[in-house]
Amino acid sequence: MNELLRLLIVEDSPDDAELMVMRLEEEGFKPEWKRVENEVDFLKALEDKPDFILADWALPQFSGLRALELINERGVDMPLILVSGSIGEEAAIKALHLGASDYILKGRSKRLGQAVRRTLDLRRYQQEKKVAEAELKRRLAELEVLYKISSSLRYLESLEALLKSLLRQTLSALNADTGAIWLTDLKDSKLQMLSASGWFTDLDSLVFEPGEGLVGSTYLRDEPNISPEFVSDPRLNKKVLAQVPAGWGGVLVPIHSHEENIGVIVVAAPLPREFTDKELKLLNSIAEMAGIAVHRIRLFEDLQAASEDLVVAYHETIEGWSGALELRDQETEGHSKRVTALTLELAKNMGIADDQLIQIYRGSLLHDIGKMGVSDTILLKPGPLNDREWEIMRHHPRYAYELLARIDYLTPALNIPYCHHEKFNGSGYPRGLKGEEIPLEARIFAVVDVYDALISDRPYRLAWSREDALEHIKKESGTHFDPQVVELFLDLISKTE
Ligand code: C2E
Ligand code: SIN
Ligand code: SIN
Ligand code: FE
Ligand code: FE
Repeated sequence: MNELLRLLIVEDSPDDAELMVMRLEEEGFKPEWKRVENEVDFLKALEDKPDFILADWALPQFSGLRALELINERGVDMPLILVSGSIGEEAAIKALHLGASDYILKGRSKRLGQAVRRTLDLRRYQQEKKVAEAELKRRLAELEVLYKISSSLRYLESLEALLKSLLRQTLSALNADTGAIWLTDLKDSKLQMLSASGWFTDLDSLVFEPGEGLVGSTYLRDEPNISPEFVSDPRLNKKVLAQVPAGWGGVLVPIHSHEENIGVIVVAAPLPREFTDKELKLLNSIAEMAGIAVHRIRLFEDLQAASEDLVVAYHETIEGWSGALELRDQETEGHSKRVTALTLELAKNMGIADDQLIQIYRGSLLHDIGKMGVSDTILLKPGPLNDREWEIMRHHPRYAYELLARIDYLTPALNIPYCHHEKFNGSGYPRGLKGEEIPLEARIFAVVDVYDALISDRPYRLAWSREDALEHIKKESGTHFDPQVVELFLDLISKTE
């Protein structure tokens, strides 16, 4: 099959031109050719964009080098082979420098066909390479965008923050600033606009049925959509027609999670912007990633809700136990709740971190849980305890330890139940810890506990006056109690009572 070749020949001799054409025909080309011999005709012929130029080295009114210069000046990329009766090495080098593809001596014109063939093959190869490189570059840029988006989404912990960041980055990747994300509500499968930018924020109808409008049909048909202009698109949701500005179009792609369709991303732009296939591909890849991220965050949110439920259940359990204890030890009613509140306040004043307060709360409510191991005859005895009874009573912090250490979520709350009867000078029980060996929360709690015990009636004695109780606390500062805690405790009491 003969290959059509639109040829421009720069040559003053018609015979030489015919000869060149013949040589090309021998090589299997079917030249469709034109001969020029001056600059004006050459420039005119260039406008037809020939496939190939063959140019004589020297013509009466023109030259092959001048033809090369003119091509370069116009920035056109066109293959040119110089043909010459005789050409010096220097001239040949100059020609190649100027961009000639090859040069041929007229006496050797048998080579011409092959030289043209080789030049065309080389150009074709270079063009393919350029396209492949451009595609590779685009793919790399796309991967970079996807990587950036996916790594920035990884640390977000709420759906709202995730969608906001996702939309912002999607728009920036597509060079747009208007768009929105719709997701199905897990309960009723309606589509809800959960994140928006540009005029989408002004839409008042934010909930669509699957199949309804552009968003709904993209979702239901589960395929990307291009809407050249929203307001003239018959698929546009009539509910929003009045709020969508004229002269805007956009792309819509579905979001999937585990094969299931969960929403739609819309990116919009004012005309005459048209979204390209490449942008659509990129948006599809972003949507894929978005599906995974949304799935992850929904799992995370569910887990959080479940653990919040658990925290509520914990509170109820602890308060239940603490109440059961007070029921048994009738006279101390309200003691646990009072000491818990006062201990928390004192702990805050002492600069204890918020995340530790929950442990202090639990530990305070449960501080005497070990008294469950002490019999009624001892616990409710109206008079002083004898040695054997004291030995059992002094065991109650250890009972607490044994009980609570088996419950994972209460282990961090153990310090108060286990150490609230330790004394600052080391004379307390059960371990005889001294000074800062005693956990700070237990040092805080001890002051509050003794104060509240003293101003309450006990089976073994009546309540003391506040003044006497405070006097006792001051007297025991440095022996029973940590002096720093006593100081802040006295401050707090003087402010609250
Ligand atoms: P609790 O009644 O809750 O008292 C807690 C802590 O407050 C006591 O720890 C003690 O440090 C202080 N405290 C309470 N009442 C008095 C008091 O009248 N004078 C003084 N100086 N301090 C007081 P402690 O002593 O280690 O006692 C631990 C638990 O042993 C008490 O808890 C109570 O349940 C029991 N207990 C202590 N003394 C007697 C007693 O004489 N008779 C009976 N039946 N039980 C007692
Ligand atoms: C629609 O879904 O028809 C309205 C949303 C849009 O303007 O793309
Ligand atoms: C114990 O160590 O088990 C009881 C507390 C004490 O007597 O020191
Ligand atoms: Fe106690
Ligand atoms: Fe107590």
